[in-house]
Amino acid sequence: MSRLLDDAQVYQEEHAGLVPDSQRPAFHVSAPVGWINDPNGWSVYKGEYHLFFQYHPYDTHWGPMHWGHVITKDFVKWERLPVALAPDMEYDAQGCFSGSAVEHEGRHILLYTGVCEKTVNGRKEMIQAQCVATGDGVVYTKADKNPVITPQMLPEGCNIHDFRDPKIWRKDGVYYALIGSKNQKNDGQVVIFRSEDLRQWSYVSSLDRSEKKYGGMWECPDLFELDGKDVLIISPQFMEADGLEFHNGNGTLCIIGRIDEQYRMCRETLQAVDYGLDFYAPQTLKTADGRRVMIAWMQSWDNHITPEQFAWSGVMCFPRVLTLADGRLCQYPVREIEAYRRNRFVKSLTITEGETCSDLISGRQIDLILKLTWTDCSRFEISLACGRNKYTKVVYEPEKSLITFDRTHAGFHRDVICTRTMKVSPFHQNMEIRILMDKYTVELFADGGRYAMSSLIYTDLSCEGICFSADGESCFTVEKYDMEIS
Ligand code: FRU
Repeated sequence: MSRLLDDAQVYQEEHAGLVPDSQRPAFHVSAPVGWINDPNGWSVYKGEYHLFFQYHPYDTHWGPMHWGHVITKDFVKWERLPVALAPDMEYDAQGCFSGSAVEHEGRHILLYTGVCEKTVNGRKEMIQAQCVATGDGVVYTKADKNPVITPQMLPEGCNIHDFRDPKIWRKDGVYYALIGSKNQKNDGQVVIFRSEDLRQWSYVSSLDRSEKKYGGMWECPDLFELDGKDVLIISPQFMEADGLEFHNGNGTLCIIGRIDEQYRMCRETLQAVDYGLDFYAPQTLKTADGRRVMIAWMQSWDNHITPEQFAWSGVMCFPRVLTLADGRLCQYPVREIEAYRRNRFVKSLTITEGETCSDLISGRQIDLILKLTWTDCSRFEISLACGRNKYTKVVYEPEKSLITFDRTHAGFHRDVICTRTMKVSPFHQNMEIRILMDKYTVELFADGGRYAMSSLIYTDLSCEGICFSADGESCFTVEKYDMEIS
């Protein structure tokens, strides 16, 4: 074990315990201490789900990247493991950036981006190259031959500085890696490499590209089959807003189609993955029973809203099962969550114009399922985390098929972005809005998961009121559970 890895591990064990449980989400992965960003190496290994993450334990802001590590059997209860990777080699001295994992013949294989600084023609440059590490689920050893995929192996026309976040898989005895990249005009793309032995890799194709429409560098790609289609997920930087579909800055994009024999994507549909304020860099795995489960970093690069007094920053979204419906990617919390529901509350209600229903339910660690069966309103509002003049609003406008998340009054004292609106399916008689809250996380799934919206609030935990109101008569059913993780 290297000194850097050892130090990070000792620091984690000494400091993680100092963060009170009451101050962190109960069923979401959060930074043990310090900073986390992207999920990494999200995979099944020896029957358990492994999650690594970009990790800088020493500060609540980004720094030299390590890989932190947790495991779970049911996506709800997580166990912390020793730090898996530290930036302790010449080729990754500036950071072990994002990557992925695959299980093969009892080994857990990690493919990640090693970042190092080199002086080229008298100028300092950052070099990003792909590296292998293998392990037994706890201890990981970097390969002797690292890095195994260097930017020099890219074809002409590619930018050689941004080349990262490999997604590895194995098919018919061959390893493939899909890697984030861009061309010399800063236009994002993803490229595929192949290898038979993890050492010798060769370029296969450029799978898909931005063509100046979908951002610059394409980060954190993922690729999988779902219901007979090929699904490519990427997280582009420098997106330009486009209606309600995409906002400025870092976004998440899902391309559904078919990959041809030249390993090129033939697009059928394209959409944002999640419409909330805090969602980035999703990765997926396939469970033994065939479900495709996605997890993502629930934070935004541009709105750092972690309260100053917190010793941790960064949380993952709750794992979601992916399906396709009407050409759209749908996502819904994994069913394992149901085992932790307590205090079932169900009630059908009718509220009239201007009426507010505020004493029915409350809580900050909840699973809330709302079904609107009939409405004559143009605005239906759910207020969450209410108390002491603080609240966060979810506004549903059935006539316009819009849902707006608004955390303006959640208690921020900084000028952060607070609202986002998404277009949803036309109103129908069983319109469902499901909200998962875990203290500071609010994940909203509309119309059975066809539309998702994930955002953070850091409202004081004493604010736990939940209210419903509408500007016209509305009939709905409230089903609510407290989430108790013991
Ligand atoms: C995405 C990202 C990746 C990179 C990592 C560094 O959020 O920028 O492209 O590997 O974070 O922490």
